[in-house]
Amino acid sequence: MPRFGRSFLAHWWLDPEITYLNHGTVGATPRVVLDAQHAWQRRIEAQPARFLFRELMRLTADAPGAPGAPRPLLRQAADAVADFVGARGDDLVFVDNASTGINAVLRSIALQPGDEILVLDQAYGAVVNAARFVARKAGATVVTVATPWPADEATPAATVAALERALTPRTRLAILDHISSQTALILPVAEMAARCRAHGVPVLIDAAHAPGAIALDVASLGADWVVGNLHKWAFAPRACGFLWVAPAQRASLHPPVISWGLDLGLAQEFDWTGTRDPSPMLAAPDGLAFMRDVLGLEAMRDWNHGLVWRMAHTLAARWGRRFDTPESLVGCMASVPLPARIAALGEAAAPALKDWLLHERRIEAQVLAIRGEAWVRLAAQVYNDEADYERLADAMDQWPA
Ligand SMILES: Cc1ncc(COP(=O)(O)O)c(C=O)c1O
Repeated sequence: MPRFGRSFLAHWWLDPEITYLNHGTVGATPRVVLDAQHAWQRRIEAQPARFLFRELMRLTADAPGAPGAPRPLLRQAADAVADFVGARGDDLVFVDNASTGINAVLRSIALQPGDEILVLDQAYGAVVNAARFVARKAGATVVTVATPWPADEATPAATVAALERALTPRTRLAILDHISSQTALILPVAEMAARCRAHGVPVLIDAAHAPGAIALDVASLGADWVVGNLHKWAFAPRACGFLWVAPAQRASLHPPVISWGLDLGLAQEFDWTGTRDPSPMLAAPDGLAFMRDVLGLEAMRDWNHGLVWRMAHTLAARWGRRFDTPESLVGCMASVPLPARIAALGEAAAPALKDWLLHERRIEAQVLAIRGEAWVRLAAQVYNDEADYERLADAMDQWPA
């Protein structure tokens, strides 16, 4: 008997008329977590100033609070998240999303003309934009690493070697994707970070898709900074991410929005970046509890991985394509080549096909281009089952383009 599947949609507000195969894109928050968020919002609204200035965070340089004062609520939430991702609460701050965390790092590093920021060719486009923005202001350049592809050639050793070839004495920062948004591959970030360290290059790991999706132990990755989204696979309300910072990098890191916490330390700088709604962060531990207590962490991961792995093969076979990705590089998403007649349309196919799937077939799926060919990125969550992917396979056969 399957443990999960369509009946689990009852835990979400997702429209049951829509086949939702894109959990990875912006996440989907379980009802119980939204309830917890709303409870926080009600508590905030009972005494907003008291809550935000006295209970949520503490803005002081040297006084850790009155003796016996409880740890600020945002720090308590950070402790819970840190515990989940293998970190100490004091080394981790909340950010609205991965983009904000990545911008914090990029805007905090000192760049000189001629310096290089290294990104992978599988990097998320918005991250590349952020790197380009800071590089062009400093007269630096963004260097793109050509990683091995197709997937059967993307062995960890080949990926690490490609990265190492791109390191130069001018490399000031390497941004490494833990799970690529485009190919969905799990990349060997710990080994890549080790090579960067050997060359004296600081490393930012973009783990936007990792928390919840795969086991994550940030402190052991050997990076200087790790950014992750909690609203994708860790069931936090939107918008909620974290930024982990190695102790040596704490003094020089600042949020993209400077506020009252300037120079008061990592937590103070990031815990108050102007007035905003902290309820997604405060409810993040409820997302973790849902995963652990309602679904079961291992059961959820086994279901998601097994389902996407099986269906990637099934769909590729139906479409006359090969799905060659090694299983160890697959988490709960898999990018699958589309039927040749669609794949050949490349990037141009993506928006039209995505819209047609949604409007004509009620399927939300991520269509993207990889090296000039159109692919579909399958995501699996506990509310999905094989029938969802069969509907997608049928729809592809019917696409009129
Ligand atoms: C690899 C990667 N990095 C960064 C981001 C940006 O995340 P956000 O839009 O939550 O800032 C995404 C979003 O999907 C992503 O896939």
